[in-house]
Amino acid sequence: MLVEAANRLNVQVSILDQGDSGPAKQLAAHDQHIQGNFQDAEKIRELAQRVDILTVEIEHVNVAELIRLKQENPKLQIHPSPRAIKIIQDKFEQKRHLNAHGVPLPAFQEVKNEDELKEAGKQFGYPLMLKAKRLAYDGRGNAAVHSEADIPQAWRSLQPEGSQQALYVEQWVPFAKEIAVMVARGRDGSVRSYPVVETVQRNNICHLVLAPAQIDGTVAARAKKIAETAIISLEGAGIYGVEMFVLEDGGLLLNEIAPRPHNSGHYTIEACETSQFENHLRAIMGRPLGSPALKVGAAAMVNILGDADDVETMKPCVAALSVDGATIHAYGKGDCRPGRKMGHITVVGQSMTQVHNRLRSILKAASPTEA
Ligand code: ADP
Ligand code: NA
Ligand code: MG
Repeated sequence: MLVEAANRLNVQVSILDQGDSGPAKQLAAHDQHIQGNFQDAEKIRELAQRVDILTVEIEHVNVAELIRLKQENPKLQIHPSPRAIKIIQDKFEQKRHLNAHGVPLPAFQEVKNEDELKEAGKQFGYPLMLKAKRLAYDGRGNAAVHSEADIPQAWRSLQPEGSQQALYVEQWVPFAKEIAVMVARGRDGSVRSYPVVETVQRNNICHLVLAPAQIDGTVAARAKKIAETAIISLEGAGIYGVEMFVLEDGGLLLNEIAPRPHNSGHYTIEACETSQFENHLRAIMGRPLGSPALKVGAAAMVNILGDADDVETMKPCVAALSVDGATIHAYGKGDCRPGRKMGHITVVGQSMTQVHNRLRSILKAASPTEA
């Protein structure tokens, strides 16, 4: 999706990833791509030599190498800054950083062993959310702990025998809703944020996004303020996704930040004046940011998660062909695994009521394998 936006702007993108013909490499047809792991220092170095601006669309990269590259060549543009990526890629460090900048968060604490988790249970009460500090996505890296008796099993699920995976724990948040705000920041420090959206998770994976979030306007305004405060505390240009919890009383707690285009912002391609992908490119190139305003009354995005086979997986897309206002994005990832994000569908309409009506047949066709 980033490459689609880049192609329209006549910006050439060179990609480093494991596959030799992934979807992004197919959309940018040239021979300057690199095949390799984004932890591989040499491959990152090779990529840096071929481009004017380095960016990431996943935070789990070799950040030490990015820091070295920036030290050796201060003129090389790396966005967001390696320091921001470093803070964000460790969820515990991210929380410590945000806490120091006055961002409201659920109570959290480092836990080095099961005894420390037991102590946290006494302090915070149950349930608790045990989390891996690093390499987490789509709920992989989280374990709910419902009682002291749950501790050994939850611990082993995130730190199997022999694993060095560092963990921390969070107080359970009895949220009324989950929301997200995409924030774009230019190289000149200017900031523009997208409408607050509501995200609905199923088995810890984002299933549905509704734009705008059906929440009180004052809560939405506070959410934007918190998201912008959080992003301004980090260095570097680009688009960021900020996930938040809304409590029953309208209180807000930040959950996590992604330093890149985010699943909760995919709807912006059809529904906003400038998509999150285009604004990411504008931001890192030092161009003026585009308007993040909605250009339709309302929108929704449904993720297409891998099911038993291709035919089952694509059923919501087949349904979407008969829905006015629906746009299908099939990623062409090939390998369809249960729960894997294989595509998404955006539905736009004049009102949220119309969007809900249009969604019905698509949601009915989406019956992901229960984890
Ligand atoms: P991921 O990196 O997999 O997105 P998150 O930390 O965002 O991990 O957690 C995934 C989902 O788990 C959240 O969207 C939310 O639904 C739930 N969750 C995470 N932390 C908590 C918490 N402290 N209390 C209650 N639910 C939580
Ligand atoms: Na995440
Ligand atoms: Mg998350």
